[in-house]
This record gives sequence, structure tokens and C-alpha cells, in this order.
Amino acid sequence: MIRVAVAGAAGRMGQTVCGAVQDAPDMELTGRADPALGTAVADVLGDADVLVDFTIPATAVENARQAVAAGVHAVIGTTGFDPQELDGVSGANVFIAPNFAIGAVLMMQFAQQAARHMARAEIIELHHDRKLDRPSGTAARTAALMSAAAPSLGEVPIHSVRLPGLVAHQEVILGDVGQTLTIRHDSIDRESFMPGVLLAIRRVGTLTRSPLVGLEHLLADG
Ligand SMILES: NC(=O)c1ccc[n+]([C@@H]2O[C@H](COP(=O)([O-])OP(=O)(O)OC[C@H]3O[C@@H](n4cnc5c(N)ncnc54)[C@H](O)[C@@H]3O)[C@@H](O)[C@H]2O)c1
Repeated sequence: MIRVAVAGAAGRMGQTVCGAVQDAPDMELTGRADPALGTAVADVLGDADVLVDFTIPATAVENARQAVAAGVHAVIGTTGFDPQELDGVSGANVFIAPNFAIGAVLMMQFAQQAARHMARAEIIELHHDRKLDRPSGTAARTAALMSAAAPSLGEVPIHSVRLPGLVAHQEVILGDVGQTLTIRHDSIDRESFMPGVLLAIRRVGTLTRSPLVGLEHLLADG
């Protein structure tokens, strides 16, 4: 059994992760950390193999540092911080994904592929109105991957929409002479992220590289 603690356990994602871990036959939910529950991350590390973090950008790095220092692997879904802040941490592994939905990973891969063949591209990301960061971590990563794949694109502009009723959506629009190509992904329920989160929990302990960013690395080899 993998013992899992969740930071941000009272939040929208944290509650969904707690449910998914409880339903997983090979996992045990051993701790729920959240100021809203009166429990600190330090209080839940003693009983955990893995800490899953869906909190806020200001605390995700510190939470991961605390976990790794205690020998607990960290799976981070929080967005809006620079993953390079965790470079060099040792003691346990760190896995970070700005998007745990398989469809979003495929969208990023297709966008990278298309970027090599089209002249220009822009990204529209749309999220619920309580999201703290903009642009979204997914949009920032998509843009970076596209620019790396096709340097002639330059910086890919990102437009952010925040409205009630939305969950997490993104359109990558590519344009060239006489044509456009639109690649769109919609997470219409937070359950869309759970298979990716559970995969990361199962794999974080055996990473050969840490910190590792991006769910595609876990999908590619297994
Ligand atoms: N990677 C993905 O696939 C993915 C998907 C959806 C959301 N997100 C990201 O996950 C994060 C959380 O999103 P949400 O919608 O659940 O937010 P939310 O506001 O509903 O929940 C955040 C929770 O974190 C708690 N928190 C704050 N500081 C804390 C600390 N120091 N320790 C423990 N808990 C703390 C808050 O009290 C709150 O309950 C955001 O950064 C969001 O962008 C990532």
C-alpha cells in the first residue's frame, strides 16, 4: 500500500484527490493537510510515502521542500510557480505536472507537432473565475514546448479568460496562408485529472530524474 497525504485537502482539487486515493486499491489516505482543516503539512508527513500538493503557488515549493527533507516523495499539481525553484532538492523525488489530464498532454504534443509546420500560433486558455494564476501553467508550458519545437514561431501569445461555469479549457490556434488549425481540450470535470494523479503517485518513487516536469514522461515509458 502506498501511504498518501494530500496538501490542500479542503480545496476543489484536494477533495477530489482524497476521494480518488481512497478508492484506489493500492493506496491509503493517511493525511489531509489544509489551513481550512487546521492541519499543517508537517503534521501529515510522518505517516506518508507520497505528498500530493494542490494548494496555492505561494506554498507549493515550501511544502515540497518539507516533504523531501522528511524523505517523502512529492507530486505537485499546483500551478503558478517556477519548477526550477526545486532544482537540486534531494532526499526524495519530486514530480510536477501543470496538467494531469491525458487529453491535455496529447493537446500539448499535437500543438508541438503542428508548430513545426504552421507560420504563427496563439493560445486561448479559459478557466473558472477563482483560479489564482494567469496564464495557466498548461498554457505557459504549451507555449514553451511550441517555441522550442519551432523557434521561428517566436513567443506564442497567450490570452486568458476567467468566467464562472468553466473548469479548465484551452485552444491552440495555428495560422498559415489561407488556413487555420485549432486544437482544443476541455476538462469538464475534475475527475479528468485523477488517472494522471494516481499514475504519478505510483511512479514518483521510482523516477530516475528529479524534479521531473510533465505527465508525458510517465506515459511515454509505461
Ligand atoms: N495540475 C493539474 O492538472 C491541475 C488541475 C486543476 C487545478 N490545478 C491547480 O491546483 C491548485 C489548486 O486548485 P484548486 O482549484 O483546488 O484550488 P482551491 O482554492 O480550491 O484549493 C486550494 C487549497 O489549498 C489550501 N492551502 C493553502 N495554503 C496551504 C498550505 N500551506 N498547506 C496546505 N494547504 C494549503 C487552501 O486552504 C485551499 O483549501 C491551483 O494551483 C490550480 O491551478 C492543477
